[in-house]
Amino acid sequence: MTATGASSPAWTIRDLTAEDLGWMAAQEERMFGASAWSRELIQHDYLYGLTRYRGLSLEGELVGYSVYGYDGDAFHLLNIAVVPDARGRGLGRALMDDFMAAAREEKAPDAWLEVAVDNVPALALYRSYGFEDVRIRRKYYQPEGIDALVMRVELRGFEPLTP
Ligand SMILES: CC(C)(COP(=O)(O)OP(=O)(O)OC[C@H]1O[C@@H](n2cnc3c(N)ncnc32)[C@H](O)[C@@H]1OP(=O)(O)O)[C@@H](O)C(=O)NCCC(=O)NCCS
Repeated sequence: MTATGASSPAWTIRDLTAEDLGWMAAQEERMFGASAWSRELIQHDYLYGLTRYRGLSLEGELVGYSVYGYDGDAFHLLNIAVVPDARGRGLGRALMDDFMAAAREEKAPDAWLEVAVDNVPALALYRSYGFEDVRIRRKYYQPEGIDALVMRVELRGFEPLTP
């Protein structure tokens, strides 16, 4: 997935490689502090999880990433971030477009995510893709103890099994 044009700088989204994981862990630490995904968790999930790690490069430099996965039933967004200096330029939306396209490609019935109830930018981003509130998970984000909002968007209607 790429974008070029006079008005928007070029960006590219690709799978992260094992060599990129150190960069991602450093961004996690910088952005999320105590609740960051650790290098060990990232490494283990990258190698053994049912997840896909995506990276967004702007002018050749990684500035954002997402992690998503499909368990054969529902599509899940597990992580998405743009480095602070690159925010507000449509790159979060580019990562969301990539996620939604992957979910549709899998013909997933719906997509799910969790977001901190006080994360105003992320909530606005997700709502703009049609995600709706499902339930609250109390004290989901530790160690801060912030509640998570579980959100879902339907991608296709219920298809009953035919005999
Ligand atoms: C959420 C995040 C990925 C958005 O990235 P971004 O590159 O700044 O987003 P974009 O520029 O593509 O903006 C897309 C939409 O997000 C929302 N948004 C972005 N910044 C916002 C802000 N400061 N306040 C309110 N809404 C905001 C808007 O709906 C915006 O759409 P619009 O430009 O049409 O108004 C980014 O803020 C981030 O990395 N935050 C820290 C990590 C994080 O919280 N991830 C979510 C974990 S659940």
